[in-house]
Amino acid sequence: MRAMVIHGFGGPEVLVPGEIEIPVPGPGEVLIRVAYASVNPADWKAREGWLSRYFEYKFPFVVGFDAAGLIAGVGEGVTDYKIGDRVVTSSNQGIGERGSYAEYLKVVTDRVSHIADSVDFATAASIPTAAVTSWEGLFGTGDLKPGQTVLINGGAGGMGSFAIQFAKNAGVKVAVTCGPKNIDYVKSLGADLAIDYRSQDVLEAVLAWAPGGVDVIMDTVGQGSLQDGIAMTKPGGIIAPIGTLIPDEPQFDAVAAEKRNVRIVPTMSNRMKAGDYMRHIVDLFGKGVFRAPELTGMPLEQADEAHRMVKDGHVRGKIVLHVADL
Ligand SMILES: NC(=O)c1ccc[n+]([C@@H]2O[C@H](COP(=O)([O-])OP(=O)(O)OC[C@H]3O[C@@H](n4cnc5c(N)ncnc54)[C@H](OP(=O)(O)O)[C@@H]3O)[C@@H](O)[C@H]2O)c1
Repeated sequence: MRAMVIHGFGGPEVLVPGEIEIPVPGPGEVLIRVAYASVNPADWKAREGWLSRYFEYKFPFVVGFDAAGLIAGVGEGVTDYKIGDRVVTSSNQGIGERGSYAEYLKVVTDRVSHIADSVDFATAASIPTAAVTSWEGLFGTGDLKPGQTVLINGGAGGMGSFAIQFAKNAGVKVAVTCGPKNIDYVKSLGADLAIDYRSQDVLEAVLAWAPGGVDVIMDTVGQGSLQDGIAMTKPGGIIAPIGTLIPDEPQFDAVAAEKRNVRIVPTMSNRMKAGDYMRHIVDLFGKGVFRAPELTGMPLEQADEAHRMVKDGHVRGKIVLHVADL
């Protein structure tokens, strides 16, 4: 099968077209013929070897967490899926198994979800990592409740595009940070307040909007980008920083947080809950509750260019790699 493979860790240039064997689904697994794979920051981090201290990677390796397509094979004991079903899934790239930048992908069924006919494959492929982690940050670690306020740091990216919609739909008032080009975009997704982090004083803007601070901050950017995050959070509130894996990243000040009675709850995609979250989110997409982030489609063979764009840190919405017309 066609795949974008890496023969060793390195820059985007190590991603090259290759031919590898089609995987065979084992017990409890399905084989998916991929229509679209979406690109996440975790993909370039895996490509550069950031996860290699945890897992033994075998080359040629295929990166990619997210895919949508058709069931092409079922392993022993699988009864919920049959050949031809439309599905979305999250791969095991994070634990060193081959991922989704390929014509076929083998996965365990607990992280597969059927998709409604009304949800196209490109939209579905954008969901697993970014949407599921957003859900965890807002309603899991963030413990957001209807009527509360949230600040999403990084409203225009993959996570932010989902998080704005999820929070609004839950009856939460939403403020976001974004660059000047994305103000209209985040408002179109439902943001009540869009703060241009390049030209505005974010602390001042947040406190003018939510006197005393917001209930929850979900920080998808990290890297010390939200210097005054604790002062923007009301006493008793929560900051949910998404794990970026960036080494030596400045952290929120734990002493200042304790003094203000703000809890810092590190957040990442929760493997135990991810399948259930994904099925719930996909179901809501099928009912037309949410819309896709802005999607930039690129051919699978341009995965290297897609990685350059994502690593640069200013993609609006999501990049999806087109693998096949299904
Ligand atoms: N550990 C986990 O389980 C997990 C899961 C998912 C994601 N993550 C991590 O979470 C992070 C976000 O993921 P993502 O998919 O949302 O990334 P993304 O789509 O690449 O995010 C890009 C967005 O970040 C915005 N941005 C950049 N600098 C900003 C700043 N200083 N202030 C506000 N916005 C800024 C950009 O908007 P502008 O152009 O407007 O600046 C851009 O739209 C990544 O580090 C990713 O690895 C971790």
